[in-house]
Amino acid sequence: MPENIHSPSFFRGRRLRRTDTLRALVQETRLTANDLIMPYFVVNTPDPGFCKPIEAMPGQSQLSVEQLRLKVEKAVGNGLRACLLFGIPAHKDEQGSEGWSDRGAVQQACRMLKENFPGLTVITDVCMCEYTSHGHCGLLDGEDVDNDPTLELLCRCALSHAQAGADIVAPSAMMDGTVQAIRVTLDANGFSHIPIMSYSTKFASSFYGPFREAAESAPKFGNRKSYQMNPANGREALLETLSDVEEGADILMVKPAMPYLDVLRDVRESILQPLASYQVSGEYSMLMAAAANGWLNKDAVILESLTSIKRAGADLIISYFSEYVLETGLVK
Ligand code: PBG
Repeated sequence: MPENIHSPSFFRGRRLRRTDTLRALVQETRLTANDLIMPYFVVNTPDPGFCKPIEAMPGQSQLSVEQLRLKVEKAVGNGLRACLLFGIPAHKDEQGSEGWSDRGAVQQACRMLKENFPGLTVITDVCMCEYTSHGHCGLLDGEDVDNDPTLELLCRCALSHAQAGADIVAPSAMMDGTVQAIRVTLDANGFSHIPIMSYSTKFASSFYGPFREAAESAPKFGNRKSYQMNPANGREALLETLSDVEEGADILMVKPAMPYLDVLRDVRESILQPLASYQVSGEYSMLMAAAANGWLNKDAVILESLTSIKRAGADLIISYFSEYVLETGLVK
C-alpha cells in the first residue's frame, strides 16, 4: 500500500476526458433535432420560381411559397421539426395591412405547410415592420410608434395566422400589452389551444442588420430604441419576461443569443415556462464570414455556438443553421 492513500490530492479533471466515450458519458448538454427551429423568409409573389439569395446571409434566401415547399420537403426529410415564418408583402402601406391579409405570404405558407407537412410545427412571427411602408413595428403618431392602437393590428395578424393553420404565434414587435391582447383575441375566436411564444426580451441589437435586408424591414427613419430593450439592461430583461408570463405567454424568449447568454441564464432561473433563444442574423453572418475566410472551422463553431445557447438555458433554439446541422448530421 502506498503511504499517502489518505492525503488530499488535487482535482484530476482530465481523468474523465481521456477517451471519446468517456467524454460522451459525462457530457452535460446535448443538442437534438427537437431543440431547433428554422426561420424562413416567404415572399408574396405570383412567380413560383422566386428564390432570391440574401447577400449578407450566405445560404439563406427569400422564397416563394412553392420554393419554400421544396426547401421544407428536404429539411423535414433530414429531421426538421419546427420552423418560424417571416412574410414579405407584395405591397407595403402605413398600417401594414397585408400583415393580416388572408392572401398574405405567411397565411399562404401556413396553409401550404400544414397541408403538405402536418407533423411540422409552424410558428409565425407577428410584427408590422415587414409590412409597413415606414419600416417601424407599429402604427406611427408623428415619428413615434403608438403602442395601444398597434395592439389591434398585431391581434389581427395573429388571428389570421391561426386561421391559416399556424401552430404557435410569436409576437416580436415589443409593444406593451401584446401578449394579453393576442391571448384574449385568440380565445374569443376559438383558438384557446394555440400557444403564444413571446419575444419577451428583445434587445435593440445591431446584430439584426442582415435580417433587415432579408425581410426588407429596415426603419426608414430613426431606430427601434423606443420599443426594443437597451442592451445594457439585465434586470429590465426580467421585468419584461415576468410581465409577459403574467399576460399569459406560453414560451418566453431572449434575443439575440450569444451576446446575451447571461440574460438567458437569469431568465431561465426566474421562470418555469419553456424558454427560447434566437441566434439572430448577425450571429449567423459573423460565423459564415469567418468560416468563408478560413478563419474559423465552420462546423465546429456552429456546434459550439448552438451548444452554448442550450447550456445557458434555452429549451428551444431559433437558428439559421438548423437546416444545415440536420443535413450534415452534426445534430440528430
Ligand atoms: C421583427 C423581427 C426582427 C427579427 C426578428 N423579428 C428584426 C427587428 O426587430 O428589426 C430579427 C431576426 C434576426 O436578426 O435574425 N421585428
